[in-house]
Amino acid sequence: MTTQEEINLPFNEMIEPKLLRHRVVSPQLYSEIHKRSLDQGPQFWESVARELDWFKPWEKTLDDSNPPFYKWFVGGEVNASYLTVDRHANGWRRNKVALIWEGEPWSDGPKEVKKLTYLDLYREVNRVAYLLKEEYGLGKGDTMGIYLPMIPELPIFMLAAARLGVAFTVVFSGFSAQAVADRMNDAEAKLLVTADGGWRRGKVVPLKDIVDKALESTKTIRNVLVVRRTGQEVRMEKGRDRYLHEVLSKVPQNAYVEPERVKSEDPLYILYTSGTTGKPKGIVHGVGGYMTLLHATMKWAFDIRDEDVFWCTADIGWVTGHSYIVFGPLMEGATEVLYEGALDYPEPDRWVSIVERHNVSVLYTSPTAIRTFMKYGEQWITKHDVSSVRLMHSVGEPINPEAWRWFFKLVGKERIPFGSTWWMTETGGILITITPGSYMVPMKPGTNGPPILGVAANVYNDEGKPVPEETKGYLVIERPWPGMPLTIHRDPERYVKVYWSKFPGTFYVGDYAVKDKDGYFWILGRADEVLKIAGHRIGTYELESALIQHPAVAEAAVVGVPDPVRGEVAEAFVILRGGTSVRPELKEELVKFVRENYGPIAVFREIHFVNKLPKTRSGKIMRRVVRAVATGSEVGDITSLEDEASVEEIRKALQEFK
Ligand code: PRX
Repeated sequence: MTTQEEINLPFNEMIEPKLLRHRVVSPQLYSEIHKRSLDQGPQFWESVARELDWFKPWEKTLDDSNPPFYKWFVGGEVNASYLTVDRHANGWRRNKVALIWEGEPWSDGPKEVKKLTYLDLYREVNRVAYLLKEEYGLGKGDTMGIYLPMIPELPIFMLAAARLGVAFTVVFSGFSAQAVADRMNDAEAKLLVTADGGWRRGKVVPLKDIVDKALESTKTIRNVLVVRRTGQEVRMEKGRDRYLHEVLSKVPQNAYVEPERVKSEDPLYILYTSGTTGKPKGIVHGVGGYMTLLHATMKWAFDIRDEDVFWCTADIGWVTGHSYIVFGPLMEGATEVLYEGALDYPEPDRWVSIVERHNVSVLYTSPTAIRTFMKYGEQWITKHDVSSVRLMHSVGEPINPEAWRWFFKLVGKERIPFGSTWWMTETGGILITITPGSYMVPMKPGTNGPPILGVAANVYNDEGKPVPEETKGYLVIERPWPGMPLTIHRDPERYVKVYWSKFPGTFYVGDYAVKDKDGYFWILGRADEVLKIAGHRIGTYELESALIQHPAVAEAAVVGVPDPVRGEVAEAFVILRGGTSVRPELKEELVKFVRENYGPIAVFREIHFVNKLPKTRSGKIMRRVVRAVATGSEVGDITSLEDEASVEEIRKALQEFK
């Protein structure tokens, strides 16, 4: 691609040119370059994919014979563990630090910092793969579960499973027993890896106890491996549970397991994510396309280089961590930080001290984290030296311009690229962002920017027609992209229905968006019944289900309401069972109940007790109406309501709360 026409724009002259691959290009030029990338069709991705190491090259770039079950790089054979570990351990990066792990416990400084080189990682991954294969007989076609805190064993197990072609499913360690059980059952996992406990804000989360509870209702788990992290006593069931260090002590130090030659379109992992209705969906990601998108975005969005120290502050339990802690940075041979605990523990500047002590140069964090830092005040940042940082992005929810400006000034010193990368569990990797590592367009506070090269994003109206500029509509992806899901695990019909039926032939994202006159996308938030609480994706339906499991609750409606720090929190309207007395402590009890049964990521502004909920004549709760009342916006058409008095009921409850 030609770079001759690049224009140096005064608009972004605050960015130091030496921090960029090329000079900043105008949005018009970018859109021409982007158009050319699309004109090439799927072949555009070949040059990116060729930079990966394939055991066998692909024969067909995109198999679109059975839409929407698209297959990328068909005929190719590859292995994600080989790409992330072997390539570097067998090359000049073997003694380069891959992971700088920092444990949460702190007394006058971090109590534990461990560095693993690529050779260390290679050894560990091989030994664990050996164990999984020889001791537990796992191989291609099997699935296993991982429920671990942010300790090195978490990426090691993921990479060991990938090495064998075993699909894994990671459950975020902030989820509770029910979530673990549901996921293990749906994934039909045979083995579950967990820890005795995990550190969170100075307290131990009893992971093994949670697993014991979960395993009361799982059908397929035969064995449990327990990593000793916190050291407390846990129950070990004979014949089922074993400590990792004990079984691993029998595995030779130099154990080697040949990486399985998996097909490009074979599953790498299943990751469960919330939708509008029903239980979370198991999004299945394959190997070849997924790794190709990660390679592209590590280069284009993060401009990753060997001198970098990369830090993504997400948890590996979510897709951000899968893609941009485990597979992306390690594939690029980067040095990265893996931090176990809360960013503001024991003091609000824990995260800044990590940046300073480890010389973090590329920082990937979230709007909710930034708003929390804002709340604490800038003095926590200014007392540290953050000059190592040369590039930043945020992810997970829209970033409000004030938060963007604040962070750009304090950490970015108004001279480094700072973007908001849009993507989701389903997309596998970043699809919309400014790309300082290739052609960067001028930044605008709060925007996501244009789609990356090769990706066709658009904004549609209800009829499936593109909307004019500056008009709100639904975000869609009009063409297949590498990194797209293979399917929903064990439910291909749902995959078609949820993503490909609203606008046939086009991937429906579920977000509202606006495209501006420069072709920048501004993602506005979810268009469905999905909440983003502190960036965590939670279905309102899941919180309602958790509430109605409480013996006092007959019915519940949950909606999202804006929150200055978390972006959004839940607000619940509950009908109590007949005969339940409204005790003053009942609200607290319900909140506690949900947090115990779902996970502590469920945060409520308030729980209201009402006598009626707005429902359609067929009995469906009209959350749209509830949300409108709760957020003080237009209620709109309520002619399909069974009983209009129910709206008043919600209003009254809210007034009493104020
Ligand atoms: O609403 C969008 C929001 O997060 C949703 C996807 O959530 P999840 O699958 O958990 O993945 C989060 C991290 C990749 C999207 O539908 N979202 C994500 N990033 C952004 C965003 N909204 C606005 N700006 C972003 N940068």
